[in-house]
Amino acid sequence: MDRHVAVTGASSGLGEAIARAFGAAGDHLTLVARRSGLLEAVASAFAGRARVAEYDLATSDPAAWLPAAEAAFGPVDVLVNAAGCQVIAPFADVTPAAADEMTAVNFRAPVRLVRAVLPSMRARGVGAIVNISSIGAAAPPPYMSDYVATKAALAAFSESLGAELRGTGVNVLTVYPGPMNTPMGAAGLRTYGNAPSARMMPMGDPAGLALAVLRAVDRRRPRLTYPRGYALMRWLPPPAGFLVSRFGPRPVTPSTPGTR
Ligand SMILES: NC(=O)c1ccc[n+]([C@@H]2O[C@H](COP(=O)([O-])OP(=O)(O)OC[C@H]3O[C@@H](n4cnc5c(N)ncnc54)[C@H](OP(=O)(O)O)[C@@H]3O)[C@@H](O)[C@H]2O)c1
Repeated sequence: MDRHVAVTGASSGLGEAIARAFGAAGDHLTLVARRSGLLEAVASAFAGRARVAEYDLATSDPAAWLPAAEAAFGPVDVLVNAAGCQVIAPFADVTPAAADEMTAVNFRAPVRLVRAVLPSMRARGVGAIVNISSIGAAAPPPYMSDYVATKAALAAFSESLGAELRGTGVNVLTVYPGPMNTPMGAAGLRTYGNAPSARMMPMGDPAGLALAVLRAVDRRRPRLTYPRGYALMRWLPPPAGFLVSRFGPRPVTPSTPGTR
């Protein structure tokens, strides 16, 4: 398609799968994350059409990588905010530093990046912004208070902006993944000690979500829940919230801050 698609969190999990899907569709890619070796491995599949931006989005200016990316491939046509970090633990055990990191990566960076790419999209009357929130934003599970608050903030930002931009040519897609088969999802299962209530939850496939994101961008959809069954939790937040808060799994081992 020859768009410039910038994907944060492209070194792993959902961001990597989404980047590979846009790459397979013929787009130019800017791949953003800290682990450059993993980014290079993704980029090597799309030689000449993919650049690596090794960058820590928790730093003071999450958009500092953007000018070089736009100098190489032109203005960003699709921004995918997929980078994220998670701690699952009792609130008292989450350090202020870990809480700040979640706020910075999961909420502050996406908003700052949207602020940076939107003026050019508006001027051109075309563009797509994809924000990866979480189904936990609709039905917040226990032991994730800081994490899920950042995801709910991102979802509210994304839904509000999407409504504001309707009719401008710039589409905002808010994505609500359920539990996903990624390193973050696997870390979550370990935190729950592989409890049956955790293992019972259907896990989504990153490649399937990536194709659904591509389709939703092309069809200018406002939101996507994946796997589809979790959409019930977004449509019926009170009963879903009750069930999740009462019967959701409890962490049995200390959680790993971040994803590394
Ligand atoms: N897995 C799930 O069950 C699930 C469910 C709902 C929503 N989500 C959301 O989906 C998104 C992707 O998660 P995932 O499951 O794919 O997790 P993952 O495999 O752990 O990937 C997380 C990505 O975020 C990047 N990242 C983390 N901190 C960063 C920082 N400070 N600067 C730059 N990049 C950073 C990581 O790259 P580096 O480490 O290389 O920097 C990595 O590429 C996240 O926003 C997550 O909250 C996941």
